[in-house]
Amino acid sequence: MELFKTISELRQALNADKHNGLTIGFVPTMGALHQGHLSLVNRAGSENDRVVVSIFVNPTQFNDPNDLRNYPRRLDSDLALLADSPCDYVFAPAVEEIYPEPDNRKFDFGALELVMEGQFRPGHFNGVAQVVSKLFDVVKPDKAYFGLKDFQQYSIIKNMCSMLNLPIGIVACDIVREADGLAMSSRNMLLTPEHRTIAPLIYKSLQIALEEAGHFTPEEVKKHVKDRINLSGLLRVEYFEIVDELTLEAVSSWDQKGSKVGCIAVFAGKVRLIDNIIFAK
Ligand code: PAF
Repeated sequence: MELFKTISELRQALNADKHNGLTIGFVPTMGALHQGHLSLVNRAGSENDRVVVSIFVNPTQFNDPNDLRNYPRRLDSDLALLADSPCDYVFAPAVEEIYPEPDNRKFDFGALELVMEGQFRPGHFNGVAQVVSKLFDVVKPDKAYFGLKDFQQYSIIKNMCSMLNLPIGIVACDIVREADGLAMSSRNMLLTPEHRTIAPLIYKSLQIALEEAGHFTPEEVKKHVKDRINLSGLLRVEYFEIVDELTLEAVSSWDQKGSKVGCIAVFAGKVRLIDNIIFAK
């Protein structure tokens, strides 16, 4: 495994690989890696000749400066974890390498960015699109791998690729969970012991929502989920929406066509956690 800090070094290695006809799988991350990231790296390894993992805490996607400051950074342990994985190249650039000058591009994702994360984290998806489009331009992967915990991000990235005509296969990977159901996240390591103990209530409530679907209206199911979590006194739901899987428009009846996904954001103290569950068609 090789570590690159500059775009030119990484490009040089990748150009040689592409010249030799090798396929490239790419896993963009912000580091503080866990088993969820490793599942993406393993999948990329099983489907490509070369695997690139980027580790870059992207400032433009943080709408809250405290969140950016507190975001965990641990390159050494990330590299140790990746050493036992199919990762070939780690790209860990400095901010100035990615943004030699301010990126003033404005993406328009229409309705996809007006709800949920887009609504509560203004500018977040513009920052994600800025950095992912730059990373895609550097790596030019055949396939890129994204975890479905960030369901809306996955929709936005697919939309961005079709908007920019990028010939990259966007691969959605299942959420990886702790034994108690909590979705794996780099933010979990910031939880206090008390919040860590209660946090599995988020996924438990989503599972109950799945059982309730069909017996209650989407509006009622949403209320039950929020009440159940808020009642804990330690967790606070920011939003829970049941939306169409493709358009992300709110669903008002279970009879509407297509798969539906229930997406949630919850504050556990100062730590913001997201999760989701797919309601089958
Ligand atoms: O999902 C993430 O970790 C980030 O949003 C990403 C895709 C690496 C862009 O910074």
